[in-house]
Amino acid sequence: MRNIALENARVCVYKGGDMTIPNELTEQLGRALKTVLGETLPSDFTVPAVSVAQDLRFGDYQSNVAMMLAKRVGMNPRELATKLMEAMEDSLAATEIAGPGFINFRIRPECLAARAEKMLHDDRLGVDKVQQPKTIVIDFSAPNVAKPMHVGHIRSTIIGDTLARLARFLGHTVISDNHIGDWGTQFGMILWGWKNILNQEELEKNPIDALLDVYKTVNLKCKEDETLLPLCKAELVKLQGGDEENLAIWNKCIAVTKTGLQKIYDQLDIRFDYWLGESAYNDALAPLVDKLLADGIARESDGAVCVFSDGYHKPQEDPFLVQKDGEWVPVPAIIRKADGGFLYATTDLATLDYRTENFKADAIWYVVGAPQEKHFKQIFDIERMRGVSGDFRHVAFGSILGKDRRPFKTRSGDTVSLQDVIDEAIERATKVVEEKSPDMPEDEKASVAKAVGVGAIKFAELSQNRLSDYIFDWDKMLALTGDTAPYLQNSYVRVRSIFRKIDGEFTAPEKLTLSEPAELTLARLLVRYAEVVPATLDDCKPNLLAAYLYELAKAFHSFYEACPVLRSEGDTRATRLALCELTSRVLKQGMGLFGITMPDRM
Ligand code: ARG
Repeated sequence: MRNIALENARVCVYKGGDMTIPNELTEQLGRALKTVLGETLPSDFTVPAVSVAQDLRFGDYQSNVAMMLAKRVGMNPRELATKLMEAMEDSLAATEIAGPGFINFRIRPECLAARAEKMLHDDRLGVDKVQQPKTIVIDFSAPNVAKPMHVGHIRSTIIGDTLARLARFLGHTVISDNHIGDWGTQFGMILWGWKNILNQEELEKNPIDALLDVYKTVNLKCKEDETLLPLCKAELVKLQGGDEENLAIWNKCIAVTKTGLQKIYDQLDIRFDYWLGESAYNDALAPLVDKLLADGIARESDGAVCVFSDGYHKPQEDPFLVQKDGEWVPVPAIIRKADGGFLYATTDLATLDYRTENFKADAIWYVVGAPQEKHFKQIFDIERMRGVSGDFRHVAFGSILGKDRRPFKTRSGDTVSLQDVIDEAIERATKVVEEKSPDMPEDEKASVAKAVGVGAIKFAELSQNRLSDYIFDWDKMLALTGDTAPYLQNSYVRVRSIFRKIDGEFTAPEKLTLSEPAELTLARLLVRYAEVVPATLDDCKPNLLAAYLYELAKAFHSFYEACPVLRSEGDTRATRLALCELTSRVLKQGMGLFGITMPDRM
């Protein structure tokens, strides 16, 4: 059997045709290699992709191809680099050798101008759709009914939504699925609590919190009074056995939770195509375990049914082994307990089957916290054993910390609810707007505050490397300077205000003439948008796009200081206005891919 993980590591690799500069340079290098080396070019050699230069003073892009290949063809790297430079078409970029044999490329101003001109007439701003669209299921948010939605769910919700937007924009078919935890052991306590202590009025008003209260209260009571837990368990067994009353209560819990969650998602402008929670797979679990037993993938162990390592991986990489006291010991995935109950892993296997069979998913991405790494590794490895392949990824992320560097909690030590975070963000953003624009009409103030507040939460999340922990800091995320949503929104407002001064009038000029360094820097960044968007999806790394948008906004401010726009004339004025127009379009579309709204004024 072959290794799925390796084979499908990059299903959605972006192979955009002629649009991006590094793609074109890479192709040119390939042709030059053939010219220079002819028959001696090793047939298994693939040209490494041209990358953005480390130090922009020496060039825009660079290639290390000469260093990679020189030894194999018996040349010295600088010599090979020189020959390649001579053989390359030089219309796109000027080339130069640096260090031990890097080739640096400096894109010619007229080429940057031509690309920027094209962008002015392209709604996609240069971003090609992928040539081979995939069907991608994105599994995100997925809170648990009657349990607190913790900060991990906040991260998942925001990152998952962005990946869905990016993938759709690039032309993939995306299915967003909210796999809520709607069938856990918590329902034993909820059912007992519903029948004995539930406050109906509270349930009407705030269902999510009311259910949470019930859960917390019963949980506490169970600790004080040991006769209670068996009663809760009995309620759970009745539910699992199909008891009508308990099923009705359970259904009601799910319904009110969904309504409550939807309200939150609406405020964040997030939608799901499906809400196939864990319970949707109940009927599939028993036959699935039987099949895995029959196929010899699972076996019985102490009355439970488990999947053990099949020895395919090195022990260090085997998700079914851990090292203890210098020895490798098995950690099987349990898929049926000795009492007949099924587990999280069983449901996830059934869910994966459903998605590959019914949705014909090529890729399934799970946006879930890093602590579940082992779980997903085991699930994906069981699929390998079953011969099921696809681009299955655990898009993991770290924790959100408070300023004290400990897990982010409320003052009273509770987990922070997403609704509270949204409310506080909007409240704080209202103050920012009040201060900046006291004369703005009230309803506009409210909508700007919402865009700024929600934008701030989202951008604070998305501008982080998702794998690292980050500190939740209200002042930082709402600051008007630094890499924050308000800074980018404010930059957008500044660009748009230029056009307000000339009554929105803008016609794309036929030709752009770039000469000032600040114009060139801005143009260079603008055309890079076409590279950054696909790269962001390839690695599921929203922070790449976030960092790019921040760079762009800064470059715009430097440009605006160095190059008068409205006071200039003729071609210069037309070019500068076009750069302004493109900056605002890229900022708006780029932030739109994060689900962040850009107000025209703030
Ligand atoms: N409900 C789970 C949790 O809160 C997350 C589910 C993620 N999706 C999945 N297919 N396992 O931890």
